[in-house]
Amino acid sequence: AENSFTVAIDGPAAAGKGTIGRAVAAHFGFAHLDTGLLYRAVGRRVLAGEEAVAAARALEPSDMAEPEALRTAAIAGAASEVAVIPEVRAALVEFQRAFARRAGGAVLDGRDIGTVICPEAEVKLFVTASAEVRAERRCRELQAAGHATDLATVLDEVRARDARDAGRSTAPMRAAEDAVLLDTSEMSVEAAVAAAIGVVSAAREGGRGR
Ligand code: CDP
Ligand code: CDP
Repeated sequence: AENSFTVAIDGPAAAGKGTIGRAVAAHFGFAHLDTGLLYRAVGRRVLAGEEAVAAARALEPSDMAEPEALRTAAIAGAASEVAVIPEVRAALVEFQRAFARRAGGAVLDGRDIGTVICPEAEVKLFVTASAEVRAERRCRELQAAGHATDLATVLDEVRARDARDAGRSTAPMRAAEDAVLLDTSEMSVEAAVAAAIGVVSAAREGGRGR
């Protein structure tokens, strides 16, 4: 759409994509889509016995209505298993592209936003942090939400998922060539958000009058 502006945020598990995406969207008045929720919702349907491709095609807004219910380790693992299936990914493309093109601006975070979903995005960020730091963050979140787990288990889960996401042949997780890299290993949430807002502001200024 005219008046569209897309911010693509990719990176590995628990790097801070969602936190940064939400804050950037709030700052600029853009809409935000955590695309991981789509894959998690398919994963949950598969855990409940559905076939993966049929599940992806049957997805409805109500599947994503309670995001917190999708943030379990079992659903994350199932999500990364269905995410290797090309027909599953294909079933989710149009919804994501339409969201990206909406008037007024959009932020999407995931694994393949800057490379496959929106290669033409005005801003691309690839957010990373060491696996140890990411596992600590995710472990704290899961425990705070009442899930019994420990750091060693979460680190194993995060590493397994990263390897599957980066190693698949369809839409593997990787930084687009024109992505800005943001390593948040030693950054506070506030510092990471400020850095991301700075990148988006610069792109908005640069794009004006072009
Ligand atoms: O969306 P993604 O899985 O990449 O990560 P997230 O859910 O946004 O963030 C994972 C956790 O790391 C959250 O609890 C954040 O508060 C925390 N965190 C962060 O996102 N960025 C930092 N620089 C430091 C901590
Ligand atoms: O929050 P976290 O980074 O741990 O995971 P997520 O963003 O909710 O994504 C869950 C899984 O969905 C990932 O491990 C990927 O396998 C898959 N995914 C994907 O393949 N492509 C995307 N654009 C988003 C998620």
